[in-house]
Amino acid sequence: MSGAGMIANLTSTGAALTITWQSGEAVTFPAIWLRDNCRCAACRHPGNGQRLYEITDLPATLNIREVARQSDGGIKIVWAPDTHVTNFSESWLTEHDLSASARKSRKKKPTLWSKSIGNAKPVGDWRQMVADPAAELAFLDAYHAHGFGLIRHSPTVPETVLNIGNHLGFVRVTNYGALFDVMSVPNPNNLAFTPIGLGVHSDNPYRDPTPGVQLLHCLESDAPGGDTLLVDGFNSATILRQEDPAAFDLLTRIPVNFRFRAEDAELNARQTLISVDEDGDIVGVHFNNRSLDWLDAPPEMVEPWFAAYRKLADILHRPEGELIFRLEPGDCVVMQNDRALHGRTEFDPSRGRRHLQGCYVDKDGMDSRARVLRRRLAEQKGVAA
Ligand code: OGA
Ligand code: ZN
Ligand code: ZN
Repeated sequence: MSGAGMIANLTSTGAALTITWQSGEAVTFPAIWLRDNCRCAACRHPGNGQRLYEITDLPATLNIREVARQSDGGIKIVWAPDTHVTNFSESWLTEHDLSASARKSRKKKPTLWSKSIGNAKPVGDWRQMVADPAAELAFLDAYHAHGFGLIRHSPTVPETVLNIGNHLGFVRVTNYGALFDVMSVPNPNNLAFTPIGLGVHSDNPYRDPTPGVQLLHCLESDAPGGDTLLVDGFNSATILRQEDPAAFDLLTRIPVNFRFRAEDAELNARQTLISVDEDGDIVGVHFNNRSLDWLDAPPEMVEPWFAAYRKLADILHRPEGELIFRLEPGDCVVMQNDRALHGRTEFDPSRGRRHLQGCYVDKDGMDSRARVLRRRLAEQKGVAA
């Protein structure tokens, strides 16, 4: 633990506890928050840590009767009106510091990128990733920071995309099946299954929830054209916010309908093109020119919304944002579907073959995979030390 996290002083008003760290910074923890974080065996199941009481089981008004520093650096609280006892370690309090600066520093900041990322894009070697958890975690960390990554040297065997998806997370089945073939076919129900170029987009914003992650695995790519385009939607939305804050704001507030229709599917979802969290930080960008349906909004919002939509599209189409590369057989691009927007250049199916297979996985499974790998590697290190 860093020296900045050491407790220098404790003061209690009864309703809240203020800790002053040795750095001089202070944080106030309200009584109810401290009590609800009690990990004693009466409050949480000792095996799985799940809460054993309902919020309504706690006294409606809780007070800190006594607070004392312990010899191990932690603190002990005795509550009123009951005489329940709660202990906190110093490190737990540091990790859960509620001050604005601590909360800000705990937030993961995306690494924004543009065309200039070029060969520095996140790349993993599938053979290494399956053999070495550290290599897999390195890929996942780079993927999470950038919102995409390219896996190389996976088998050029059909359905490999499902093995990769189910290794990194859990494949989500849709009306396309567990996987979909991206190749030029007669009577396609989606422009993706033609040789036409596709502007950058998020997949399937007409689903609720929209798929969190998309994988595209290349089996064959000797047709001329068909290069992959990727744009960082977070970077583009950041540029929009700088250039036109009102347009940005509108796109975070007014949802639009998306739609997909096929013989066996009638999908509709409504969402904003840009999502922000409670701090105003960008957490999602969904953009799909093909499946955008109609804007169901008050008439006076229509022109401003379209102007904002056009502005975002204009930024997404700027060549300086667009990373272009070619998928080779055995390559699999993994994209956070609410951030890394993808497209392709047109290809000529009369002069060669191009066959990709795609699937979707949920974000939580991949986040969990990275945390589990990190925990296992830390445990191994602990054993070896
Ligand atoms: C898709 C798609 C891109 C490509 O199938 O969702 O965007 O490279 N395909 O064919
Ligand atoms: Zn307790
Ligand atoms: Zn797509």
